[in-house]
Amino acid sequence: MSYAQSEVDVFIDVPKLNEAVARLGAQITRDYQGKEITVIAIMKGALPFAMDLLRNINGPVSLEVLGCSSYQGTETTGEVRITYDVTKPLAGRHLLVVEDIIDTGLTMKFLLENLQARHPASIKVCTLLEKPSRAKTKVQIDYKGLVIEDKFVVGYGLDFDEKYRNLPYIGVIKGTD
Ligand code: IMP
Ligand code: MG
Repeated sequence: MSYAQSEVDVFIDVPKLNEAVARLGAQITRDYQGKEITVIAIMKGALPFAMDLLRNINGPVSLEVLGCSSYQGTETTGEVRITYDVTKPLAGRHLLVVEDIIDTGLTMKFLLENLQARHPASIKVCTLLEKPSRAKTKVQIDYKGLVIEDKFVVGYGLDFDEKYRNLPYIGVIKGTD
């Protein structure tokens, strides 16, 4: 048994993830015909998903990454800070914010306000996962991979204390379910 299998139960397997990514890529390709997309991958969790999504978009795409982290106890305040910013001006661009999971929605709310202030031509949101039962604010989601119940998930970029980001699937840590 591998290290990963011994610690994490599979919750969303690789074929199901691939199917979701392919579906989102096809929708995005269709919707952005004739437009160049600036993908903004939110570090660190969304990186594996964003890279797979890029390969499923058939059209011109440029890539930016943006790091953000929540302050301690932000669940209630929604206080988020940018730890690594994009390197190009975003004015006039068609932004597609790519996130791993929308939980309370507070991170995305902050990001959208921050990005909107940079005067892009448009902003859309693509998230691999959504936990609607935990929502604290209504947030725009244009492309949604999978809706999950209120479970803490790891893998495919998502971490627990920086661990498990390297798993190829989404799982639940044994004993926490
Ligand atoms: P929100 O601000 O509550 O929507 O939280 C979004 C961020 O919290 C995500 O980008 C993740 O970094 C983290 N997060 C939320 N739920 C999970 C989870 O189940 N596993 C790992 N990280 C999570
Ligand atoms: Mg995140």
